[in-house]
Amino acid sequence: MTQTLRFDSLLVHGGLEPGPAGATAVPIVQSSSFAYHSAEDLEDVFRGRAVGQVYTRLGNPTTEALERRLALLEGGGAAIATASGMAAITTAVLTILRAGDEILSSSSLFGGTFSLFRDTLSNYGITTRFADPLDLDGFRNAITERTRLLFVETVGNPKLDVPDVPALARIAHDAGLPILVDSTVTSPYLADGVRLEADILAYSTSKYINGTGTTIGGAIIDRGVFNWDSPKFPHFAQFHKKYRSFAFTARARKLVHKDVGACAAPFNSYLLTEGVQTLALRMERHCSNALELARFLKSHPKVAWVRYPGLEDSPHHAVATRLYGGRYGGLLAFGTGDKASAFSVINRLKLAKNLANIGDAKTLVIHPASTICADYNAEDKGLMGVTEDMVRVSTGIEDCLDIIDDFKQALDAA
Ligand SMILES: Cc1ncc(COP(=O)(O)O)c(C=O)c1O
Repeated sequence: MTQTLRFDSLLVHGGLEPGPAGATAVPIVQSSSFAYHSAEDLEDVFRGRAVGQVYTRLGNPTTEALERRLALLEGGGAAIATASGMAAITTAVLTILRAGDEILSSSSLFGGTFSLFRDTLSNYGITTRFADPLDLDGFRNAITERTRLLFVETVGNPKLDVPDVPALARIAHDAGLPILVDSTVTSPYLADGVRLEADILAYSTSKYINGTGTTIGGAIIDRGVFNWDSPKFPHFAQFHKKYRSFAFTARARKLVHKDVGACAAPFNSYLLTEGVQTLALRMERHCSNALELARFLKSHPKVAWVRYPGLEDSPHHAVATRLYGGRYGGLLAFGTGDKASAFSVINRLKLAKNLANIGDAKTLVIHPASTICADYNAEDKGLMGVTEDMVRVSTGIEDCLDIIDDFKQALDAA
């Protein structure tokens, strides 16, 4: 019955099956393995002749409940919950590409993904070309014979640019390639996989899905829409034969996810299933608070610039309005002219926490150039939109007036 519910109801009921003794919260099945009465029964599960749990690295009832819910939130398909957002992206990419293959990625990326693509995967023969996701012709022209995947973030973190993801998806599909979308910053609440025309999504659930900064997690959602029966993907042939449009999930589950072992812990899956229930309410508040804060910051004489797609003079306003229905997320950035004044503002904030995360109920700030992007040179920082005077804000769900008061007192005194 949950298939027919609307999004906000799916957040609460999606994928939940009746629990023991009428429990309505998903039970935490904190067990490494699952016992079978006979050797024949266990053999049947291993051979795929019967459905059942074997070992929590491969699957777990608590994690499966989360997976069912997350898949429904993207408009349907199959989901794999992972230990972190980076585990989700790594697992998805290793499932699709082999040595010698190339990723065509947006150049506006979260630093961890940039490092995975440029520094880590290149050691194993998977190379990445980076292109500006706002330049559609440039992106199309960057596809080569070796390209096997397009990758983009819905809103670049921390650059806060807003690519036209469905247009990029069409470029991928015209070339017979899948697109992998990281929708961490927007969450399925602003746009689901159907609206984005994504084939696969891989994102961090540590942020808005969890919502309270308690849990690290990630998810891969396979919408089951890409045709893997292609000479570009001979390694999918055996999976396509048996699992058709869900060949990606089959290959991920039977090989990469199982072998890499970056599985979700049952207790984390429980926290995420609880947390996601309030996603709609939280996102509305994140979005409205961020817009109000952006407007306030714009009016403050000590603020040199403000980046937020919700501001009408943002170059990303039109695309963001079209794709995300007039909501622009909780992330914004501003500059104060130089590093010293940015530090001075951060040090004077009382309510906002100075830490490396986004998507918490609490308002968070960070100085990206000296922290999450400290390892990158000036050119790479430029690609990521990071300047020395930049403060990134993940606007929380507190009373907006308290957030603005906090930034006002910090800026006035800085
Ligand atoms: C856009 C984006 N993708 C992926 C990740 C990685 O997620 P995790 O920290 O859960 O591994 C992050 C983390 O900040 C992120 O912002």
